[in-house]
Amino acid sequence: MEKNFKRTTVTAALPYANGPVHIGHLAGVYVPADIYVRYLRLKRRDVIFIGGSDEHGVPVTIRAKKEGCTPQDVVDRYHALIKRSFEEFGISFDIYSRTTSETHHKLASDFFRKLYDNNKFVELESEQFYDEQEHQFLTDRNIMGECPRCHAQGAYGDQCEKCGSTLSPDELINPVNKLTGNKLVKRPTNHWYLPLNDYQQWLEKWILEEHKEWRPNVYGQCKSWLDNGLKPRAVTRDLDWGIPVPVEGAEGKVLYVWFDAPIGYISNTKELLPDSWEKWWKDPETRLIHFIGKDNIVFHCIVFPSMLKAEGSYILPDNVPSNEFLNLEGDKISTSRNWAVWLNEYLVDFPGKQDVLRYVLTANAPETKDNDFTWSDFQARNNNELVAIYGNFVNRALQLTKKYFDGAVPPCGELSDYDRQTLGEFAEVKAKVENLLENFCFRDAQKEVMNLARIGNKYLADTEPWKLAKTDMARVGTILNLSLQLVANLSIAFEPFLPFSSAKLRRMLNIQEIEWDRLGSTDLLAVGHQLEAPQLLFEKIEDSAIDAQMQRLADIKKANEAANFQAAPIKPTIAFDDFEKLDIRVGRVLECEAVPKMKKLLKFKIDDGINGRTIVSGIAQHYKPEELVGKEVLFIANLAPRQFKNGLVSEGMILSAEDFDGSLAVTSLLREVKPGSEVK
Ligand code: 2FM
Ligand code: ZN
Repeated sequence: MEKNFKRTTVTAALPYANGPVHIGHLAGVYVPADIYVRYLRLKRRDVIFIGGSDEHGVPVTIRAKKEGCTPQDVVDRYHALIKRSFEEFGISFDIYSRTTSETHHKLASDFFRKLYDNNKFVELESEQFYDEQEHQFLTDRNIMGECPRCHAQGAYGDQCEKCGSTLSPDELINPVNKLTGNKLVKRPTNHWYLPLNDYQQWLEKWILEEHKEWRPNVYGQCKSWLDNGLKPRAVTRDLDWGIPVPVEGAEGKVLYVWFDAPIGYISNTKELLPDSWEKWWKDPETRLIHFIGKDNIVFHCIVFPSMLKAEGSYILPDNVPSNEFLNLEGDKISTSRNWAVWLNEYLVDFPGKQDVLRYVLTANAPETKDNDFTWSDFQARNNNELVAIYGNFVNRALQLTKKYFDGAVPPCGELSDYDRQTLGEFAEVKAKVENLLENFCFRDAQKEVMNLARIGNKYLADTEPWKLAKTDMARVGTILNLSLQLVANLSIAFEPFLPFSSAKLRRMLNIQEIEWDRLGSTDLLAVGHQLEAPQLLFEKIEDSAIDAQMQRLADIKKANEAANFQAAPIKPTIAFDDFEKLDIRVGRVLECEAVPKMKKLLKFKIDDGINGRTIVSGIAQHYKPEELVGKEVLFIANLAPRQFKNGLVSEGMILSAEDFDGSLAVTSLLREVKPGSEVK
């Protein structure tokens, strides 16, 4: 399949420039795309890797309004931040541009105009929600109201986040402008639609018959869209942020963000290669691969190909490797809930550990199903795999060479059966890894490469050259020569996955050029070749670093719970007489102690202004006894006494408030009053 193509255009989804990027982005799209591209480059294939920021769309305008700045300010800030994060993580784009570029505006506009001129759109009128005070139509996401299903307030025009239902703005009860709270009216408006239904048959043949090799999650989603029957899709919006619709009378309308964003791949290629971009997009001998996340499947497999087909001069994607989602500690990653590991923050906490994250995200890549990132797994994979296997093997091979041969590659003597067996195992892996990479199985490919390191590590452990040093230096030389060749092989095999460590390893090995096809060779390092001083490739991650991350997440969870706190409904009304039956008093805590064998209970001796009394209260998990001694509290004085299993009797109840997280706060007074005072 691969052989028929002269070159490969690889794209990675353009992230929205309305927030920083997190591990979900990296795992879902950018690390796999980068592995693939680095592999192709090592194979000396002709490849370009296109990226950029998606800077239009409603979310950008929402953020701008919230922050009181312009959409351009928002995208300038996040484009720079995202671009830097990708650079820092070694995502080796040939270009990382943006959809606000001039090249893109022109190309996307011309693209639309060509389709318009060739009657590829249908123009339809529909009733949309309009804010008469703001003089603007509202997009689904900007409309808010009561959910028709669960009746939560604050459901969006496209979804209720409370019950998860997919909605249309028409279903909302009392729809308002999310930002201003203004009531909305319906107004007719015209838009251009791409009649996807006209492409249905063609898509069925192209995807369902001719691309059965696509990942099951991608193929399955396409099939389900096609089985449901495609409908015309609006490709314009009433909005003041985006690429103006290049048609007379279309003032106030822009191209829908999902119309212009994928064209951004083409524009960015044009910006990179102004004179030769067309061969990367129009020559049938070019293979086009889109790396995306699962929420982008329909746009890349159905909508964009239909646009390209309608335009007529472009090639179509050959494959669309899409991942499922990565969760974080069992919960969906969410920007609005701050439930994420942000790349810029990761690097502050784990400087220089880009490869560790790349490794863990690939080892856990959500290739076939949603997967979970946990900090304990992150630590275990670093300590037990990168440090204990790969790093350990490399370090031992280099340290022993330094010790016994002053860091020069020793000659290789006669091979033992075990040497041959080890080399044999090693050689087999190349074909396996290649096959996996060509088929976008990055997780398994990386596993195989780690197995190579395992083979090397085991070889050194089994042959124990340090024990032979007194008796058979020639044999020590052979073992170390082979080990060093294996180490050099690892620097090639790991390069697509762990580029920073591979570069570091190459520096230690004192080699520059590497080529994938040399993988499996045992002459990567010449006899006598001088190595540089060994350094550790990876270092252990301590529990304290992981605990700090877990604490951060716990704090975020708590903050989210606090933000979502909803007061319980008020109980049925009672008469004043009923209230008067309650005798609430002020008491001073004279003594407070834990109750043996009853984890939850504290026993109080209370000065109630009369004879004093004992109260037992279930607040031991919220207060230490000594914290409460001497304090004034409120208690119900006329509650029937209650006896506990161990014979203790409580003569009343201390009043506490239950916070959003279930913690209890004992009530107190704003100033000191006499114990026994009544609360009215
Ligand atoms: O889902 C997203 O983040 C979109 N901004 C992806 C766009 S991909 C391409 F079409 F540009
Ligand atoms: Zn709901």
